[in-house]
Amino acid sequence: MNDTRSLNLKKFDPEVAKLISLETKRQKEGLVMIASENYASEAVLEAMGTALSNKYSEGYPGKRYYSGNEYIDQIETLAIERAKKLFNAEHANVQPHSGSSANMQAYFATLKPGDKIMGMNLSQGGHLTHGSPVNFSGQMYKFIPYGVDEKTEMIDMDVVRRLALKERPKMIVTGATAYPREFDFKEFSEIASEIDAYMLADVSHFVGLCLAGVHQKPFPYADIVTTTTHKTLRGPRSAMILSKIEDRYQQIYHKESKFNLAQRIDRAVFPGTQGGPLDHVTAAMAVMLKEAMEPDFLTYQKQIQKNAKILAETLMQNGVRIVSGGTDNHLMLLDLRAHKVTGQQVQDALEKAMIFTNKNSIPYDTASPFNPSGLRIGTPALTSRGMKESEMKLIGEMISRIIKNPHDNILLHKSKEDVLELTKKFPVYPNL
Ligand SMILES: Cc1ncc(COP(=O)(O)O)c(C=O)c1O
Repeated sequence: MNDTRSLNLKKFDPEVAKLISLETKRQKEGLVMIASENYASEAVLEAMGTALSNKYSEGYPGKRYYSGNEYIDQIETLAIERAKKLFNAEHANVQPHSGSSANMQAYFATLKPGDKIMGMNLSQGGHLTHGSPVNFSGQMYKFIPYGVDEKTEMIDMDVVRRLALKERPKMIVTGATAYPREFDFKEFSEIASEIDAYMLADVSHFVGLCLAGVHQKPFPYADIVTTTTHKTLRGPRSAMILSKIEDRYQQIYHKESKFNLAQRIDRAVFPGTQGGPLDHVTAAMAVMLKEAMEPDFLTYQKQIQKNAKILAETLMQNGVRIVSGGTDNHLMLLDLRAHKVTGQQVQDALEKAMIFTNKNSIPYDTASPFNPSGLRIGTPALTSRGMKESEMKLIGEMISRIIKNPHDNILLHKSKEDVLELTKKFPVYPNL
């Protein structure tokens, strides 16, 4: 390498190095309460920052389009085998670059453009890729949205069943981005079976809870499971598709195809929608899967749920309404309407106190999605730092005070000092 290329990041590009260091500091000093974020371990980060990023390995282990894949094949096989074991899945594809890609690939493997799918309404907790009109999913397929009951703010399975029987979609998508309750995969799969529909479980958010047995496991009920790996799994930014091998509807929807479900998923990922896999990310994913097999992973997932329950209770005791009256998982939705503040205003006020959250629509919100009436908060990242029930009470009280006084700069300043003191007691990334 020439002189410039031999310099390390700090020496060669202090500008970028400084910004990386500031962002790391923000994550260390602040309270990360965005429900989809977490702290990957240093081992996971280490695997990502390696020379594996240089490699091209289009194809799958043993069937690549390039030479030099001896070690990459072993890494991808390790990740696949670990994923299959953890999820009790017959097949795993660890190459999707993101959760959105994984959902696209699952649809491409099973459906034709224009087919009907049922998925949870974005405005009531679903993800963009579950049929939003601004997303490819809503443009390519005819999505029939299901939502939550206006009174209970929970999914009413009788309503889902009636809708499914009326519309007869070819697929039912379960899972969500902002729904604080447990999905009944068994019941969804019974409904799907009645109408010869595939069932896809997008467990991106609460995957850790499922793996730990805190929530129902998606297999054997789902035909396909998609998941991101950077949320409750604490891995690299990536995703996986897990599935059965055989397609139970091969004779109905894919009679002409010589490929089974697993093969069609692999083909939808590569060459269908992606080129080369991100081998450094696959390695990090393998590390993450090993971590998820450790006994302390179960303890961690249980604590995420305990923390969320206490946090929700504290907020409610302090007069903040929680959508559906609580939470079963790692997140909750705060209804801010009674406090005459918007999600944006509270998100901004909390940010000044180094508490990071996101504004979110609440079910039947009459405000626009750009300025919604709610806030979504979650406990996975705080739990990764080792925080428990007593810290949740403190944080819940702090957030309640800020919701009631979002423009009180003295309060915000004092809260920031409290946050800095608290996070010092629960350090992350000692070596970064
Ligand atoms: C349920 C669900 N599916 C899919 C995705 C998409 O993941 P990505 O951001 O990696 O595309 C998300 C991300 O928030 C999600 O919550």
